[in-house]
Amino acid sequence: MSTIKHVAIIMDGNGRWAKKRFRPRIWGHVRGSGVVSDIVQSADDQGIKALTLYAFSTENWSRPVDEVSILFKLLKKFLLKEQSRLIKNNVHFKVIGEINGLPEDTVTLIKETEALTAKATGLKLTFAFSYGGRSEIMRAVNQFQIQNPSKLMTEDDLSARLYRPETGDVDLMIRTGGEQRISNFLLWQMAYAELYFTPTKWPDFTAHEFKSIIDHVSCRERRFGNVSAQTSLQMSIELAESNKTNFVQGVLS
Ligand code: FPP
Repeated sequence: MSTIKHVAIIMDGNGRWAKKRFRPRIWGHVRGSGVVSDIVQSADDQGIKALTLYAFSTENWSRPVDEVSILFKLLKKFLLKEQSRLIKNNVHFKVIGEINGLPEDTVTLIKETEALTAKATGLKLTFAFSYGGRSEIMRAVNQFQIQNPSKLMTEDDLSARLYRPETGDVDLMIRTGGEQRISNFLLWQMAYAELYFTPTKWPDFTAHEFKSIIDHVSCRERRFGNVSAQTSLQMSIELAESNKTNFVQGVLS
């Protein structure tokens, strides 16, 4: 079983994937949406506890109207198709972001799926939709200030007010499509995340590549600002040696 508990993915490269095939950008999103179920299933199979997928950023609202509306439709289609499987597989589904601007029927379906899976104890699946990391942090700060006008906020106070606190810190962030940036995604939660950038465009991303990334990263040593376990052991040995020498010199002198 993997030591990686929370994986976040920026599903990038749909537009370029389609362009290379002389198709409209939305074709890339359609093909990309087909990959999502495979990756969710694979995360579940690998014992990952939380999977957060960046499906639509606050900045994406400035894309052409037909592209924005196809993304809403794909979300709706995914939920209609997968709702019963999510329930059957004990997946706890949630959308994070400002979903109020989405079409009413999509918002209703999101809320229905969240309610139907609310008691699930398995994989925590999150879609970040109309989401921005800075606004998530500002929302938490403002909430705290309103609730506690004269107190100083701690890190725990902020963490507890994020959209989905129970998913915790991100262990691994994968970005497909070859770009190497984090694009306002889970800024607070990614403080110590391992970052992995693959050139594979999202429509070509497979469960097989996903699993090899997890296996590869599981072997990396995460130090959280500390020294490596190897260095730490070496330092302890050196300290013990030097104490022994000092003791012997003390006795002999
Ligand atoms: C970035 O690719 C991708 C998005 C903005 C949307 C990601 C959405 C999906 C994978 C489908 C949504 C599916 C569900 C189930 C919600 P891009 O268009 O910026 O690609 P580019 O960098 O090649 O232009």
